[in-house]
Amino acid sequence: MAVTVQSITPTFAAEVGDVDLGQPLSSDDLAAIRAAFTQYAVLVFPDQTFSDESHLDFARHFGPLETSILGVRTDHKMRLAAHMADVGNLDADNRILAKDDRVRLYQLGNRLWHTDSSFKRVPAYCSILHGRSIPPIGGQTEFADLRAAYDALPEATKRRIDGLVAEHSLMTSRAKLGFTDFDSAEREALRPVPQVLARRLPDSGRMSLYIASHAGAIRGMADDEAKALIDALIAHATQRQFVYGHRWRVNDLVMWDDRCTMHRGMDFDDQRYKRDMRRATASDVGPTCEQMGLAVAAE
Ligand code: OGA
Ligand code: MN
Repeated sequence: MAVTVQSITPTFAAEVGDVDLGQPLSSDDLAAIRAAFTQYAVLVFPDQTFSDESHLDFARHFGPLETSILGVRTDHKMRLAAHMADVGNLDADNRILAKDDRVRLYQLGNRLWHTDSSFKRVPAYCSILHGRSIPPIGGQTEFADLRAAYDALPEATKRRIDGLVAEHSLMTSRAKLGFTDFDSAEREALRPVPQVLARRLPDSGRMSLYIASHAGAIRGMADDEAKALIDALIAHATQRQFVYGHRWRVNDLVMWDDRCTMHRGMDFDDQRYKRDMRRATASDVGPTCEQMGLAVAAE
């Protein structure tokens, strides 16, 4: 039986059924998933009850796996394997993180609109998030379609952002929440990296914005003007018509294209309910500036 693809929204999110990702994938099924992922940018696979290893194996089809940034910190005890980003609210003993826990405060950055790993020179291609425990109230994840948002920009704005390069750093998004608790190894690992503001996706040929709360400065532009432009682009891209909100069910696996979407986690009572979410992330093929044929000097 081949996989089935049913749209959730007309062009952005779809549900993929009749597949057990705990089993090896046939090449036909993988091809159907790739085709759906080129058309839609968010895929939901319900009822996936697999091990972390199967989850990582599925992600390996899409590129080299990233390692969790939490591992940079030597005083942090990891709950999950190095290739798995822990985006829940649990500590290494599966207890709810205390209100003042550094990891909890750091994870609050996921509540801001962002795309994963745009603060890395080679950013993410796709993220694959599994919902193991879901709070009964809140904790949805919202996704914004940056291809549709690009298409809807005024022509003058498209011309204005063509060839612009923004600096992305995880410290920029965390600073927005007043979080600055980074040690020297983290500051070194998190130095700003250049990323294009608009990109063409090689598989679909579509243009997309490439923005996130990690973006701060824009090269060759005054800081206040850059901030105003990035804020305006994020506000434009997150209007309701570009957004799909996912209400999780236990064992949903959701896969999104980090090249052309933003996402954010929604509020929930994280001192009361457990939310166990595990993310495997595949890297893109190269830096975005290189992909767009822009030569960018190191800063
Ligand atoms: C992520 C993320 C938001 C959420 O997994 O990268 O930002 O709702 N998640 O957990
Ligand atoms: Mn994220």
